[in-house]
Amino acid sequence: MLAAAQRRLAAEPADVRDRVRLVRGSGEDAPALTRGRRFAAVLCHGVLMYLSEPAPMIEALCACTVVDGIVSVMALNAATLAVRPALERRWDDARAAFHARGECGVLGLDTRADTVEELSGLFADRGVRPLAWYGVWLFTDWMTLDDGDDGDDEDDEDELTRIAEVELEAGRRDPYRRLSRVFHLVGRG
Ligand SMILES: C[S@@+](CC[C@H](N)C(=O)[O-])C[C@H]1O[C@@H](n2cnc3c(N)ncnc32)[C@H](O)[C@@H]1O
Repeated sequence: MLAAAQRRLAAEPADVRDRVRLVRGSGEDAPALTRGRRFAAVLCHGVLMYLSEPAPMIEALCACTVVDGIVSVMALNAATLAVRPALERRWDDARAAFHARGECGVLGLDTRADTVEELSGLFADRGVRPLAWYGVWLFTDWMTLDDGDDGDDEDDEDELTRIAEVELEAGRRDPYRRLSRVFHLVGRG
């Protein structure tokens, strides 16, 4: 991931490159790695599911955020773990998933799931007020989105724009957002 970030950064203009520093380390150690500096927005997306428990990471994220700053996490949704095995016709796995707190994820690794309520509680315990939560990839999680390579980049861009519009609407309203496999929680410190 750091190598991918490095490649993308190299393609950015100098004023962007100059504002970014990549640091290798555990998120839980972020306050020390950034030497106590606090940030207006602290994001941790797609990482909590790989940790045995969320609290130390949430603690670190909150500690890195300025007063009135934003903390943003994306996590695996413990409330919807039956959806993926069911759509893949793994019925025994789907039945077991109603009582599970994790799954073997899309990368083939064991993952752990969270709930909006529990993470909101961890935010609140550290003085971060939960502001909003969203469902993520409600529809597109279940599609193969290859570019088809028909050569028409304009059509691809147009479809991406329309996908984003639909996902955003679904992601911010019930009952759709509740069915998402991943959720996005935003709080203010
Ligand atoms: C699925 S990727 C998500 C990457 C990126 N945030 C994104 O949204 O595309 C998960 C990443 O979490 C990293 N990771 C796992 N445990 C971590 C930890 N304790 N602290 C920081 N990163 C961690 C892994 O190395 C991997 O790069």
